[in-house]
Amino acid sequence: MSDPERLNRKIRAALAPCSLGQWPTPLEPGTPALAHALGLEALWVKREDRSSPRCGGNKVRGLEFLLAGAPAGSVFVTVGGTGSTHCLATAVHAAALSCRAALAQFPQPETETSRAVAAASQAHAALVVRAATRATLPAALLAAWRGARRLGPRRWIPGGGAHPRAVVGHLLATLELTQQLPDPPETIVAPLGTGGTVAGLLLGIAGLGWPTRVIGVRVAPALVANRWRATRLARRARRLLARVGVPLPAPRSPDILNGLGRGYGWPTVDGESARRLAAQHGLVLDSTYGAKAFACLLHRETWNMRRVVFWHTFAMPARLPESVR
Ligand SMILES: Cc1ncc(COP(=O)(O)O)c(C=O)c1O
Repeated sequence: MSDPERLNRKIRAALAPCSLGQWPTPLEPGTPALAHALGLEALWVKREDRSSPRCGGNKVRGLEFLLAGAPAGSVFVTVGGTGSTHCLATAVHAAALSCRAALAQFPQPETETSRAVAAASQAHAALVVRAATRATLPAALLAAWRGARRLGPRRWIPGGGAHPRAVVGHLLATLELTQQLPDPPETIVAPLGTGGTVAGLLLGIAGLGWPTRVIGVRVAPALVANRWRATRLARRARRLLARVGVPLPAPRSPDILNGLGRGYGWPTVDGESARRLAAQHGLVLDSTYGAKAFACLLHRETWNMRRVVFWHTFAMPARLPESVR
C-alpha cells in the first residue's frame, strides 16, 4: 500500500491543481438509528457536498484539476442539464479564478433543487444557451462555443467534468478515508453519472491496496453511465499519472446498480422513500443523485452490504452565493 500522504503530495506536485475546495471533506458516522433502519452494521457519510462554502459538491474535486493553469479572463465552455451541479460549480468556481463560464444546457425535469440550480447557473455563467430538446443540444453547444469566443480565450470542459485529470481529484478524496476510518470500508456507494467520481474511487482504492467494493448507482442513461466508461476513465487517469511519475496498480471495475427509473432527473419512488428516510435522520439528499444512490441501501441484502461509506455528492445550500457577473 502506498503512503497516502506521500501519494497526495506527489500527485499535487505533478499535476498542480488550483485550490477551490476545503479538504478533507468530513466523514460523518450516520446515526446508529439510520444504520439500524437500513439493516447495516455501520454507515458513514462522506460529505463531498461540503467541499466548498462557495458552491460545494463532488464536482469541485475535478474542477481543481480542470481549471488549473488557465489565465485570468479564460472562458470555460461546458455542457449539462439545466439542473446540472457540474455547470453551476464550473460557473461559480471559474469566477473565483477571475474567469467565466459559457454553458450549453438541455432541459430536465423540474424539482425544487433543479430549479434553484438552473437559476443560479443562469446568474453565474457569462453565457447560457439552452436547447429546447436534447436533440438540439449539439446546436446549443456550437452556439455556446462560438459565443464564448467573444468573451475570452476558451477552454473545453467535458460534460460532468468527466476527464482523466478530474478523476485524479476524486482519487485524492479516497485517500482522505485513510485518516478518517480505522479500517478499509467493505463497500462505497456513489451515484454514477458521467463516471469520473466512481473512476477516482476505483483508482484510489487500487492505490491503497484496499479490498473495498465500489458500487456505482446509475442515475443517468446507460450510454453515459456505465461500467465500461467508468473503468476506462480510471485506466486513463492511471496512465496520466504514470506519465508524470506516479505509478499505481490497475483499478478493478465497479459494480453497477440501476437507480435511473424513468430518466435523468426524474424522481423515483424508491429514491423518494430513501430521501424521506434520510431526512428523518438529518441527512438531506437531492432527488437526481443522492436519493437514487441512497435507495440502493434499502435493498442492501441483495448486495450483502454491512459496512458502507455513502458518497454524499450534493446538497442545495440554504443560500447560494451572489452572482459575480
Ligand atoms: C451532485 C452529483 N452527484 C453525482 C454525480 C455523478 O458523478 P459523475 O458524473 O462523476 O459520475 C453528479 C454528476 O453530474 C452530480 O452532479
